[in-house]
Amino acid sequence: MAALRCAHALRRLSSIQCSRRSPRTVRGLASIKPPSSLFAPLDTFPERHIGPDDAEVSKMLSALGYESMDAFVGATVPPKIRVPAASVDNTSIPAVSESQLHARARELGGQNKLFKSYIGMGYHSAVVPPVILRNVMENPAWYTPYTPYQPEIAQGRLESLINFQTMVMSLTSMDIANASMLDEATAAAEGMVMAFVSASSKKKTFLVDSGVSPQTLAVLHTRAKGFGINVVTGNVFALLEDETLRSGICGVLIQYPDVNGTIKDFTSLSKKVHSLGGLVICATDLLALTKLKPPGEWGADVVVGNSARFGVPAGYGGPHAAFFAVTDRLKRKMPGRLIGRSRDTQGKPAYRLSLQTREQHIRREKATSNICTSQALLANMAAMYAVYHGPVGLLRIADKVHKFTQVFKTSVEAMGYKSENQVFFDTVTLDVSGTAVGNAHNVHAAAEAAGINLRHIDESHIGVTFDESVSPADLVALLDVFASGAKVSTVSLSDLAEPKTSAIPESLQRTSEYLSHPVFNKHHSETEMLRYIHHLASKDLGLVHAMIPLGSCTMKLNSTSSMIPLTWPEFSNVHPFVPYDQVKGYRTIIKELEDDLCRITGFAAASLQPNSGAAGEYAGLSVIKAYHESRGEGQREVCLIPLSAHGTNPASAAMAGLKVVAVKVHSDGNLDLEDLKTKAEKHKDQLAAFMITYPSTFGVFEAGVQAACKIIHDNGGQVYLDGANLNAQIGLTNPATCGGDVCHMNLHKTFAIPHGGGGPGVGPICVAEHLAPFLPSHPAMPEKGELSIDAVSAAPFGSASINVISWAYIKMLGGQGLVDSSKIALLNANYMASRLAPHYTLRYKNENGRVAHELLIDLAEFDKAAGLKVTDFAKRLQDYGFHPPTCSWPIATCMLIEPTESETLEELDRFCDAMIQIRHEAEDIITGKQPKDNNLLKNAPHPVSVMTLSDSEWNRPYSRQTAAYPLPWLHEKKFWPTVSRIDDAYGDLNLICDCPSVEEMTS
Ligand SMILES: Cc1ncc(COP(=O)(O)O)c(C=O)c1O
Repeated sequence: MAALRCAHALRRLSSIQCSRRSPRTVRGLASIKPPSSLFAPLDTFPERHIGPDDAEVSKMLSALGYESMDAFVGATVPPKIRVPAASVDNTSIPAVSESQLHARARELGGQNKLFKSYIGMGYHSAVVPPVILRNVMENPAWYTPYTPYQPEIAQGRLESLINFQTMVMSLTSMDIANASMLDEATAAAEGMVMAFVSASSKKKTFLVDSGVSPQTLAVLHTRAKGFGINVVTGNVFALLEDETLRSGICGVLIQYPDVNGTIKDFTSLSKKVHSLGGLVICATDLLALTKLKPPGEWGADVVVGNSARFGVPAGYGGPHAAFFAVTDRLKRKMPGRLIGRSRDTQGKPAYRLSLQTREQHIRREKATSNICTSQALLANMAAMYAVYHGPVGLLRIADKVHKFTQVFKTSVEAMGYKSENQVFFDTVTLDVSGTAVGNAHNVHAAAEAAGINLRHIDESHIGVTFDESVSPADLVALLDVFASGAKVSTVSLSDLAEPKTSAIPESLQRTSEYLSHPVFNKHHSETEMLRYIHHLASKDLGLVHAMIPLGSCTMKLNSTSSMIPLTWPEFSNVHPFVPYDQVKGYRTIIKELEDDLCRITGFAAASLQPNSGAAGEYAGLSVIKAYHESRGEGQREVCLIPLSAHGTNPASAAMAGLKVVAVKVHSDGNLDLEDLKTKAEKHKDQLAAFMITYPSTFGVFEAGVQAACKIIHDNGGQVYLDGANLNAQIGLTNPATCGGDVCHMNLHKTFAIPHGGGGPGVGPICVAEHLAPFLPSHPAMPEKGELSIDAVSAAPFGSASINVISWAYIKMLGGQGLVDSSKIALLNANYMASRLAPHYTLRYKNENGRVAHELLIDLAEFDKAAGLKVTDFAKRLQDYGFHPPTCSWPIATCMLIEPTESETLEELDRFCDAMIQIRHEAEDIITGKQPKDNNLLKNAPHPVSVMTLSDSEWNRPYSRQTAAYPLPWLHEKKFWPTVSRIDDAYGDLNLICDCPSVEEMTS
């Protein structure tokens, strides 16, 4: 293998250095050229990102019968929708080399000022344990896998996510928690909707306490609109006494501790809300809960929050893992992914995603949540932080934070400042008006001059929040600012005494144990932690092992060079609400990324706020709705969606308050334009939008896309283009040319943000000019437009830090490299289609026999002939060391295969060889050579525990050799699933979502 790799490297080298070898431009890959001069960089990115080299490209084109790349693309993408080559090229997006990109990132990073932030509001300067930073966050074994749809090759991150769930359940004292939410604000909004639905959508009033963070409130307002929920804000204790409100209350949101730092006893309030039939939703802080009576002990029904202070960088707003925990009676209504325990065919315990109806099979327009991609990587980091520190370490951290806050409060009170809250954990709100400094503005000015950020509240109030990162020297520097404001002498460390009592009254103090499970009590040395992290990683198949050809997921290279700047402090240690002049570097990156995305999509403006594709859909549809309303056409609320659409499309439409009407699809995979026309005309006066995925979810470029969009526009609607498949389009066509008005992109697909084992993601939207004024605002954004919709995410730029990855990806590829990537994505898919077509039924192709960037194969015939299901093929692929393609979506009997441009011909062939060999194995079952109930496919996968069965237990009509090494290269490249096939039904019936106890583990 090493020799092979060496030969490959030599081939590449020779293609760059020797003029005898044909330059890589011959077949149309203009981005990959030999250096034009001695001074041109050698570390250009396109040749690293794009898998096939020139010879491989030629070979694939020949196999498909094309003379040139242009001829192939011409037969694949409908001519009517092609865009001029100049729309995306190296003039519009110049390519930089890997080292040039790093130099530019350093320069821009240097323009972000690294102030010490005491802003709080749910964001902290987390201390990331180096062992977690290097071995989880910066480790491709953790960041490159997909959502664990294939649990037999994902037990590592499933175990870690169960740790996350257990950690949340334990600290909140709730019955069940999910595996993360996008952010605290959207988690709170999901809680609100849960309360609304639990009250049968009849009670429409939702009370929000004035101590709730402003960004959460903004997101609640946006989300409430679509459901017709009436959000009432104020002192909830007083609001509950209001007779006019009481009968209509479906729930209440409180924050504990609240945004100003105050901690209240909500026991009686919970009883009152319950007596009115409502739910109590509590936003909280996991670190505070090590010291505070947990919400589960005083009556909360839903508990949400952000886990980021558990070792996840602030990253100018994210990504972070929010959490969502509920009481037992609400568990089956919980949004998001839920990891559960089940058993494998050998009866051994195994983890899996529970209740998968919440995924691609999402309940379409009946869904009340659209969340798919969440924040798995960050949840894993937070869980690892809890594993590393354990309950004792966490309490030590919480004690330090609390005592620093107490010392600060006592010191500034002695200087004459008035503290607004006497009961607190880590935050105090100060009234500065009675001191020499006079007003808050002057304090902020002095603080900023000292490199310190405080929370802006109003003219006379300031918020100060402490976290683990604050050192004694930081505390003294902070006190200096206040001392000079009060015109008193400065304080030195020796003046500061350790508080003897807590600022939390006994009645609110935690007495119950937490994190008592062994996993949180043993990996506290770095050696143990390192081994635990790598032990789990070794169970999971990621891009570090093999291609992950998941259709609609675009699992391409997540280059190391684009990941490196992410963890530089200049990008990771920035609070999302710092003044704009402190983030010039970030703002340049955001602006350049927005501009490039607009160029690529053909649209006029962008918002990077949505932090997943589904969040983008919701934002885009809300923008469309606001547009209609601004024109006095608020009655437009019908959204046409093809039956082939991803489940999030109808779910997002319903959440935005639209009524979904399904549009038929022809048997050739194309949209039924007649049906579309009939329905558009029927709903002419109510038509708000049409959602279309392009290329379609069946993997074809529909030639009629522009005609479809025209029908919608002729009937007063707007077109939403789901850009999950944008990788097929760049520089060849674009959503605007296809006829769209809005599109979202999944930066975690097309633009190379790693999927993180289930998130993070970024789902920005781009819009045509007439929709630009409606793009989401945010309380922390100075420039709120009059027509802007409210925030859709907790932070102004969503998961801001990972935008750096997509920015780097675009800049390093340059315009030409982006276009070449799309071309090779098409070529790779078509090559695979041509190799697999003789063996499998290829479901859809265009009139030239071409698919787009993915292919759909139908396995229905095998079910008919031998009872073999899609799952049997998928599990058998695991034995070949591959992650199976997307299964049973968009058609139940199909597999959707997407290779991306990053895979070499050798890897494509390896996968095709595996599929073809499995086809032969299936043939043996069809012809009766192997029994229908005991064969290689039905028994797959074959983990070591099966392979080591004794001869008397090995009751299979095939050898162990055939089971584990069906093709020769497996002897070199074997990946072992760690459990045998997992029983899904058992897991759903017996929903258990926390770590097994010691007894269970040893039994
Ligand atoms: C076609 C399509 N639309 C929307 C989505 C939702 O994106 P996300 O998972 O980022 O929310 C997906 C995700 O797989 C998709 O394939």
